[in-house]
Amino acid sequence: MESIRLSAPLSVELTLTKGCNHKCLHCYNPWRKSNNTIGNKLTIEQIDKIVDELAKNNVWHVTISGGEPLTMPNEMFHLIRQLDKNGITYSINSNLTLMTEEIADFLKEKLKLKTLILTSLPSINEKKCDEITQIDGSYQRILKGISISKQHGFKIGINIVITKKNIDDLDNILEFLKEFKIDYLSISTVIPPSYDILNKDYYLTNEDIVRVADCLLEVHKKLGIDVDSVTPLPLCILGDANKYQNVISTSCSAGINRCDIDCNGDIFACSHENTPYGNIFVEGLKKSWDKMDMWRHFQNINKECIDCNYMDICGGECRMITNTKIPQLYSLNKNKKINYSQEFNSIKIMENDKFTINNNIKLRKENFGAVLRIDYDDFFLSENMLQLYSVMKELEEFSIQDLQEFVEINENFYNIIDYMVKIGLLNQKSELLETIS
Ligand SMILES: C[S@@+](CC[C@H](N)C(=O)[O-])C[C@H]1O[C@@H](n2cnc3c(N)ncnc32)[C@H](O)[C@@H]1O
Ligand code: SF4
Ligand code: SF4
Repeated sequence: MESIRLSAPLSVELTLTKGCNHKCLHCYNPWRKSNNTIGNKLTIEQIDKIVDELAKNNVWHVTISGGEPLTMPNEMFHLIRQLDKNGITYSINSNLTLMTEEIADFLKEKLKLKTLILTSLPSINEKKCDEITQIDGSYQRILKGISISKQHGFKIGINIVITKKNIDDLDNILEFLKEFKIDYLSISTVIPPSYDILNKDYYLTNEDIVRVADCLLEVHKKLGIDVDSVTPLPLCILGDANKYQNVISTSCSAGINRCDIDCNGDIFACSHENTPYGNIFVEGLKKSWDKMDMWRHFQNINKECIDCNYMDICGGECRMITNTKIPQLYSLNKNKKINYSQEFNSIKIMENDKFTINNNIKLRKENFGAVLRIDYDDFFLSENMLQLYSVMKELEEFSIQDLQEFVEINENFYNIIDYMVKIGLLNQKSELLETIS
């Protein structure tokens, strides 16, 4: 089992500051307990150096995170301006309690923020939320931040980290999402913070995992919004790939296409790791990135997942959970029978169908071919596929027959076209589809 090694990450999560006005009980940042955050934030000069390094390595996206990035709006604005200048997109992870009209105006008017703000909401229950953040009034301030952001037209996602403390939130979440017009929901099963792994609040059971997946499904069906679990949900616990296809899509991409940069410049594959691979101010991005092969070779994966037949569609258990080695956590079983039919989302390709290339994609050449980003998903193209893609791009609109001088048209080729349509690389115009609709 091995993944391709990219020349550099496509996305990085950048910790702007370690400072935070909340002290969430579950937060993976061990320093959230300390009030001493002096020196634990990026300076303007360091931000410039980091953006230069990201641009040099052709990084596409930065998730601005922390601590709480809104504790230092001026540095955040500077970072955003620099990213804009270099054509690097960005999104923000924030608890939103410090969102003001001024900050929202800046983000909206000057920078035309199109992407989502992911807001962590520890609980939809006011008392529980304040208990988890350990700050009175935090729930009301988060709601106010959401409201200001919505008034400025931003898309708001919420991320709820599920532990035993707030799992009953799942029963009432639908109403909350409707009331506050939330655009996206992420429910992350907790990754036990390394400094508190014996805390039983983090010991989720198989039933808890199924409850999370069912809640995501229900929200997706009833509200039609995108849903996700940042922490991958093991397929052998869910038991049904077809039913849960919209919620098992997250497989871990740490070290494969993304990494994390701390505010002292240390570089990690995953933000939950404690030991860095290098430092952006010392070795630069690429050298540290190249040292993350453990993640590409799946050396740190749960033993149960190694030879599991479903690894391709499941992606395996969150590796930071695997490595906390908590015996009481939920259990995996590679021999569990899973309901899965490969036909479930097959597309009908006909000889006379016409195709065009989706122009809204990013492409970076790599030594194996190229990597593509379509919406928020990344795909690897071999050298041959890249050549085919270039031919298709030149043709503008084409049928399968138009390609016969470039490739052999056989059943496998139809499968390739089917795949390209499925991932959104090709738009399909089909008489058959038009007749059906
Ligand atoms: C560390 S926070 C920093 C940004 C900001 N302060 C916030 O809370 O959104 C980044 C994300 O990590 C999530 N997170 C924190 N601790 C976690 C844990 N132990 N397991 C899973 N997700 C966690 C938070 O919910 C948040 O969405
Ligand atoms: S608001 Fe974010 S950074 Fe702050 S303690 Fe909570 S999860 Fe951690
Ligand atoms: S054993 Fe691992 S890869 Fe297989 S279904 Fe379970 S979590 Fe997924």
